[in-house]
Amino acid sequence: MKIIKAKDYDEMSRKAANLIAAQIYVKPDCVLGLATGSTPIGTYKELVAKYEMGDLDFSEVTTVNLDEYKGITKENDQSYYYFMNDNLFSHVNINKEKTFLPDGTEPDSDKACNAYNEIIHSVGGQDLQLLGLGHNGHIGFNEPASEFPLETHCVDLTESTIKANQRFFASYDDVPKQAYTMGIKTIMQAKKVLVVVSGEDKADIVQKAFFGPVTPEVPASVLQLHPDCTVVADAAALSKVNM
Ligand code: F6R
Repeated sequence: MKIIKAKDYDEMSRKAANLIAAQIYVKPDCVLGLATGSTPIGTYKELVAKYEMGDLDFSEVTTVNLDEYKGITKENDQSYYYFMNDNLFSHVNINKEKTFLPDGTEPDSDKACNAYNEIIHSVGGQDLQLLGLGHNGHIGFNEPASEFPLETHCVDLTESTIKANQRFFASYDDVPKQAYTMGIKTIMQAKKVLVVVSGEDKADIVQKAFFGPVTPEVPASVLQLHPDCTVVADAAALSKVNM
């Protein structure tokens, strides 16, 4: 595992975007695994800027996202579909038919998860998987557990996650209670993994996940076993480790 220290969020975003751009330069028809959440927003902004400068071409790129809420329409501004279009896809020359997320509108979980596994296999898996890091060590919606979940599956969101999300929805009843997420095996099969982490509030989990024992109780710790994993973290996120 390689850890790259950035001085702050903006530098983290630039460094991460450079690594993604490098992937697109060496393989223009690469498959990018993408993440939502607040951390990668700056990375997507940098990628859009590179595209606008004429330095990056997304026309042959395929993307597969980590996760999507179950029971949410694509038009809902809280869907991950909406997020990806808003933050990246609508601003670059990507072929939207080659951008994939789990289908949150499919009520049959097995059907949705099998279909998504099939898509990931059919595009040949991710050349590079971008990840954020949850405060409890989750990656995608793979929460701390007694074993590592393998492929795409449906998860029940914890009560604390539902409550935390409530502010984005009209009422508690409107907040999604489940989500579809890639499993740990699918993430680990990516040829390269790139994790972005920022902020002092992530310092404890950075230490546990990347310097502690590998355990499904801290899902991101499994990344220590990945043959080509790079973490780009800012100084605040690395403040509890000696570097
Ligand atoms: C996003 C995802 C989540 C986030 C994680 C960190 O698709 O699956 O695992 O990466 O919750 O979120 P932020 O970046 O908002 O701290």
